[in-house]
Amino acid sequence: MYGEIAADPPVDRPLPDDEWAPASAGNSTDILSRDFHNMKLASAVRACLGASLVLTLHAQIDERPIPRVVKRDGRFALFVDDAPYLILGAQVHNSSTWPVTLPKVWPAMEFLNVNTVEMPIYWEQLEPRQGQYDYSMIDTVLTQAREHRVRLVLLWFGTWKNGSQHYMPEWMKLDPVRYPHMVDRNGRAVDSPSPYAAASLEADKAAFTAFMRHLREADPQRTVIMVQVENEAGTWGAVRDYSPAAQKLFEAPVPPEVLTAMQVKTTSPSPNWQEAFGSEAEVCFHAWSVAKYVGQVAAAGKSVYPLPLYANAALRDPLRPGAPGTYESGGPTDNVLAIWKVAAPALDILAPDIYQNDPAAYLKVLELYHRDDNPLFVPETGGAANARFIFSALGFQTIGFSPFGMDYSRGHDTGPGSRQPDEFNAWAMNYRLLGPMQREIARLNFEGRLKAVAEVPPKVSETLPLGDWNAVVSYGARRNNQAVGNAEPAGRALVAQLKDNQFLVTGFFCRVDFRPADPDKHRQFLRVEEGTYENGDFKFLRIWNGDETDWGLNFASEPVVLRVLLATY
Ligand code: DGJ
Repeated sequence: MYGEIAADPPVDRPLPDDEWAPASAGNSTDILSRDFHNMKLASAVRACLGASLVLTLHAQIDERPIPRVVKRDGRFALFVDDAPYLILGAQVHNSSTWPVTLPKVWPAMEFLNVNTVEMPIYWEQLEPRQGQYDYSMIDTVLTQAREHRVRLVLLWFGTWKNGSQHYMPEWMKLDPVRYPHMVDRNGRAVDSPSPYAAASLEADKAAFTAFMRHLREADPQRTVIMVQVENEAGTWGAVRDYSPAAQKLFEAPVPPEVLTAMQVKTTSPSPNWQEAFGSEAEVCFHAWSVAKYVGQVAAAGKSVYPLPLYANAALRDPLRPGAPGTYESGGPTDNVLAIWKVAAPALDILAPDIYQNDPAAYLKVLELYHRDDNPLFVPETGGAANARFIFSALGFQTIGFSPFGMDYSRGHDTGPGSRQPDEFNAWAMNYRLLGPMQREIARLNFEGRLKAVAEVPPKVSETLPLGDWNAVVSYGARRNNQAVGNAEPAGRALVAQLKDNQFLVTGFFCRVDFRPADPDKHRQFLRVEEGTYENGDFKFLRIWNGDETDWGLNFASEPVVLRVLLATY
């Protein structure tokens, strides 16, 4: 087996780009049905906009395609400007979407080299008096994001924020009869909104729809690429609502679509929640109730502007889950994802907020949320040591990744909730490497050509099968000595197959080598090009050989990207 070079390239010049280009992608017929729905909605929306407004917008700005989630050959991508896009994001602190705080946001984002900023929009600020909407903050963030050349994911802090109703407008908070809290087993009010409150649901639907309608009109550039509906919806302090109305529903038969989604088999043809789910009955019931509510808010917003929508989850321990009541109840935790999918089809993604520090737990979360019916997206995470897991997430075909609280509003080196400089550095390191090649990575991942991993002790090496080759990633290897692992497990690697014998390779604190799948053959490097990506193009810098390739391809803390051409002997 030999590498496929058309003609002898001079050694001091790069292979022409078309020699490296992957073969064309598979067919694209398997687009999610909701994308067709989105497209239909999009044209309906355009039709409804009113000719004069459309003409005015078109006269000023080219209207770009609406971002959408696409599924093809079993893999997902977030399409932005009609091509796969990888969110290299950061989320601001909760109280940072204010004119006074934004100057402390943008320098942090610039330092991090993000391409997308996640920013909350507050219901209490949008609708200070019922029915009167103030869009000024949305317009401010749109303008400033464009000035700073980043995209936005806006977070709708509506009925739920971390399980509570703290972002409901004051006129709602002061009327708990109309906009009720949940009640616990003893009939006491809980600091969490009732998912059965019809007036709250109607008010949230109206406000979220107004927000989305405004976005549709104010953002033909698609600066906003996705919207989060609510924030960590669910309840702390009670597993479900115990109000008389809720109790009646809990004792009623489970909707058949829930039984099907959860693959429940009982002797009773129409079991109630307790009969169907036993010890998980209350959490399943609450998940159904919360997801129905959030799903209706999402659907209302989507009907006016079909952007991708997602809901985020405060997780339960993925490896050793405690009993219901030990984690936030009702949100899209891993045990009730199927219920959320059937209750809230307007949501494109159910996304985990990953604050696990145990690497095994971290990886398990990625695995649990990467499903055939759910693209993986990590909208919140944290910890300098976890920065390497963006590579693991890429290995699970993530559409994006975003650490939380990455602005300078709380001081970036002191104070509770602040982020230490090493955390900023850890994320910036990833994003400086991946930023210039994000479109390439998103496309290669969507085409199923990419493998990526991060170091998890005690494993010191791992093998990534790629066609006729195995890429062997190892950590803490020196010259021809055995890999022993890094002192701090900071290793991470990405390998993408461009053609049969050609690979794109990058990473930090690791070695990547290749072994032919055929054990009777040996690997030889025909050509190892180091380069950099500029605006999506690979720019050749030099050829690696000698010490740089004799024991494999070694990556340290510098951002290095290689294109590798292999052969066997
Ligand atoms: C998860 C929430 O979703 C965020 O808004 C924030 O509260 C973090 N937890 C913790 O700071």
